[in-house]
Amino acid sequence: MKYLIYFIFTLFLMAQNLIIPIPEHAPYNKQKAKLGELLYFDTMLSRDKTISCASCHNPVEGWADKRKVSIGVYGRRGFIQSPTVLNARFNFVQMWNGSCATLKDQIKGPIHNPNEMDMTNKLLEKRLNASKKYKKLFKKIYHKNYITYDMVADAIAEFEKALYTPDSKFDLYLKGKAKLTKIEKRGYMLFKSYGCIICHNGINVGGNSFEKMGVIHHLKSCKGDRYSLTHNPEDKCVYKVPTLRNIALTAPYFHDASAKTLIEAVKKMGYYNLGIDIPLNDAKAIVSFLKILTGKPPEFLKEHN
Ligand code: HEC
Ligand code: HEC
Repeated sequence: MKYLIYFIFTLFLMAQNLIIPIPEHAPYNKQKAKLGELLYFDTMLSRDKTISCASCHNPVEGWADKRKVSIGVYGRRGFIQSPTVLNARFNFVQMWNGSCATLKDQIKGPIHNPNEMDMTNKLLEKRLNASKKYKKLFKKIYHKNYITYDMVADAIAEFEKALYTPDSKFDLYLKGKAKLTKIEKRGYMLFKSYGCIICHNGINVGGNSFEKMGVIHHLKSCKGDRYSLTHNPEDKCVYKVPTLRNIALTAPYFHDASAKTLIEAVKKMGYYNLGIDIPLNDAKAIVSFLKILTGKPPEFLKEHN
């Protein structure tokens, strides 16, 4: 019965064409993004001056972190896997449990978190206001003589908005500009028919709803889930559905990094959320489909680096 409902719902979603390509151009303020880029890579934003945003959202690791948990100032360890910041602007909320509504709002998290950058606004402002370079750059954009935390968050959020990756092979296919191989096409078909698309849909092929990890087979315990925020028992093991864009670049997978490879992740999704043992051949085809969700590097970076 459960599967019948899934199946009918899937047909409904397919009819709605719920995967939409990323827009080729999405607005952001270039001047602010350029300043935000400097801040994003600057370790001055952390107490011991060793950690920047890029330490845990690393451009060469898909703007995520290949470690199981991230390491912050003084070698302190976090408790959850770091997601990619690529295309984060298209997520309906930020963080695994959706605790932040916007990118700008999210930035106070890492900056203040004792296990990440461990800063106070006061210390951050003191350091930046002592820098001639930053004083000049901020003044040009914000027309103020004093740099505030709010301006810092504003500039970094604008840089993050520039980090979107259009023109993946899949986007081009949706626009009728590219042809899929046989296996990619089969993977896309299976992605729909197994019901992956029930949760992973929209511009980010995810990132637009909260769902349970373990709908069919439950997990024993879950860290950093919605329950930790709402204390509503129904929210146990519920997370924001992650984006599958650029997923081939961001191993390991899941909030607890419990899958090392994409094949493993697909099989686990089948087991935990669909109650299906997905045959290896089907899982391989789905992985071929997931690989064509890798987009072009952000246009903004090409212009400045
Ligand atoms: C020490 C590692 C670390 C540092 C430093 C760090 N982050 Fe994160 N970031 C994480 C982890 C871990 C999460 C997931 C936390 C959660 O959801 O509970 C995260 C989540 C995010 C998200 C949410 C993405 C999504 O899909 O929900 C964004 C955006 C983000 N970080 C941006 C930044 C920015 C900007 C900075 C610098 C100001 C930064 N991070 C610094 C580890 C880090
Ligand atoms: C009922 C909703 C639901 C369905 C159906 C579903 N997923 Fe997921 N998916 C999620 C959630 C929630 C997570 C995050 C779970 C976690 O981190 O523990 C996730 C995570 C993933 C990840 C890891 C993403 C990352 O960044 O770590 C991959 C890959 C994935 N799903 C692929 C699939 C595939 C392929 C299917 C179909 C076989 C599928 N999913 C079906 C909800 C779903």
